[in-house]
Amino acid sequence: MGMQAIDLLLSRRSARTLSAPAPDAAALELIFASAARAPDHGRLRPWRFVIVREAQRERFGALLADHLRRTHPSSSEETLARERAKALRAPLIVVVGAKLNKDMPKVPATEQLLAVGAATEAMMLAAVALGFNAMWKTGPAAYDESVKAALGFAPGDAIVGFLYLGTEAGAGAAAAGPDSWRDLVREFGP
Ligand SMILES: Cc1cc2nc3c(=O)[nH]c(=O)nc-3n(C[C@H](O)[C@H](O)[C@H](O)COP(=O)(O)O)c2cc1C
Repeated sequence: MGMQAIDLLLSRRSARTLSAPAPDAAALELIFASAARAPDHGRLRPWRFVIVREAQRERFGALLADHLRRTHPSSSEETLARERAKALRAPLIVVVGAKLNKDMPKVPATEQLLAVGAATEAMMLAAVALGFNAMWKTGPAAYDESVKAALGFAPGDAIVGFLYLGTEAGAGAAAAGPDSWRDLVREFGP
């Protein structure tokens, strides 16, 4: 019996550590299909995905480290090695990008980005529903033009996240309490 949808929504939290197994081909298809069901003003399908499989992670790590070296030339070898190792923290990485259409007066770029953000959350929830977990990361590399280009994105596109996917060892920490939203809600009106 699968997890109830509301339990999934109430309990999702980022993985602390991820290891193999990565989502297999069937799970990855369901993860992308879930992303593609995100609300999407104008049906622009702005999401784009670049799969970084296990064997390509070192190349991805080199991209992160090269970016750090370029933007912080005085970085120590140790710092660069740590940056490179970020690519190894999960067996699979999906770079989630947004192809932003700037000629849509009714669908500003912000809304297209929001749609891709919603798609990313759907991917995280799908991963948990399928027995995996995920981490959503960005950092300065995500906003760097040459990193974007190296991942096949155009200058007008955006990287919304590096989604690290795998299996969480152990139970992990508990999600935030169910009342964490209460002080952030108010009524409109008297
Ligand atoms: C757009 C976006 C970018 C993020 N980038 C990072 C990041 O670079 N590093 C990081 O530690 N957390 C990052 N986070 C936050 C985590 O993914 C995570 O959601 C947060 O720490 C809260 O933990 P939880 O998901 O378990 O509630 C980012 C979240 C979003 C929505």
